[in-house]
Amino acid sequence: MSTHQAATLLEKGTPLEITERQTPTLGPNELLIEVHAAALNPVDHFQRDLGMFVREFPAILGSDVSGIVAKAGSDVRPDTPKPGTRVTAFASSWFNGKADYGALQKYVIVSEDIVSVLPDSYSFVEGSVFPMAALTSWCGWLWAGISPSSPPSQKEGVFVWGASSSMGTFAVQEAKLMGYTVYATAGAQHHEYIKGLGAARVFDYKNEDILGQMVNSAKEDGITVRAGYLATGDQQLAIDVLAALSGGEKAKLAVAPILKKDLTLPEGIEAAFVSHPEDPVELKGRIRWVFRDWLEARLAAKELVASPHIKVVKGGLAAVNWALDELKGGVSCSKLVVEL
Ligand SMILES: NC(=O)c1ccc[n+]([C@@H]2O[C@H](COP(=O)([O-])OP(=O)(O)OC[C@H]3O[C@@H](n4cnc5c(N)ncnc54)[C@H](OP(=O)(O)O)[C@@H]3O)[C@@H](O)[C@H]2O)c1
Repeated sequence: MSTHQAATLLEKGTPLEITERQTPTLGPNELLIEVHAAALNPVDHFQRDLGMFVREFPAILGSDVSGIVAKAGSDVRPDTPKPGTRVTAFASSWFNGKADYGALQKYVIVSEDIVSVLPDSYSFVEGSVFPMAALTSWCGWLWAGISPSSPPSQKEGVFVWGASSSMGTFAVQEAKLMGYTVYATAGAQHHEYIKGLGAARVFDYKNEDILGQMVNSAKEDGITVRAGYLATGDQQLAIDVLAALSGGEKAKLAVAPILKKDLTLPEGIEAAFVSHPEDPVELKGRIRWVFRDWLEARLAAKELVASPHIKVVKGGLAAVNWALDELKGGVSCSKLVVEL
């Protein structure tokens, strides 16, 4: 029986430790991925430090990997990536709580539905940033009624609040690829970068008159806005901006962080914390569409930028504790990635 290295959480509130684990055997519809890079997300430090959503110890944290398919289960579909294929995958113990499914280890199991072929045009480091951000922001847009199956008219817009965050940069790219005019908010130093990802206009969220600026711009551009995605930032301000932009019409704000309890919702405005679907059938359909359909096609067409700016953390799995502390301290338009 072979073994591999993992960054392991032995109990909540302790640093991850490097352990040697048995490389698991696969279920019939699963793939074993040899991990080459893993990207970090805020939930990873919440899990390490607070034990949030951890169902059993020892636990392996993390969600975002890229690597090579090492083995395929006995009953995978004919179109599932074969052993030897480069892939990006949402490798998360989130769904079943089991350590064999967490990203921060050299070999991880994933469902065959939750991988996308990673073309040679993206490095493993680049490939690791896609899964969490693509899935999360798609769930937000779909909840808000924004979908590739109903393309926008020329004058329809959306906004992305906190567009320099990991989730925000993807929400911008997804909306732009669907044909929306994208307004975004970000720190002033990142405006050109966010425009490069597809935003038509970028506003400084620290500007006291951001609401007036966005409303005036929408009038000038002649666009209507009925949906927004808040990746991070001031939820009440984003709601107020959406109410002003939608001019009394119904509008929806999808929110990536937990929704604040004391929000005031003007008439017609709906806001909700949005994550992946709870219902297993809906979840399976959603992840297959995001990974095997949308993301795989967009990567093949080189339409996606691995965003935000990537910072590779030197030291591999042994450096993950340091990297999670760095992430907890706050990052600005950057994604921390470890190579394995
Ligand atoms: N719902 C879900 O399923 C789900 C999944 C994944 C993540 N999340 C949550 O989504 C949120 C975003 O995660 P992430 O990884 O994308 O975050 P991140 O990349 O760590 O966010 C960092 C960015 O936040 C921006 N920011 C800070 N304060 C802001 C403000 N007041 N207004 C606008 N932008 C502001 C900073 O912008 P500047 O540098 O430009 O100032 C920085 O670039 C987190 O709360 C995370 O827990 C939810």
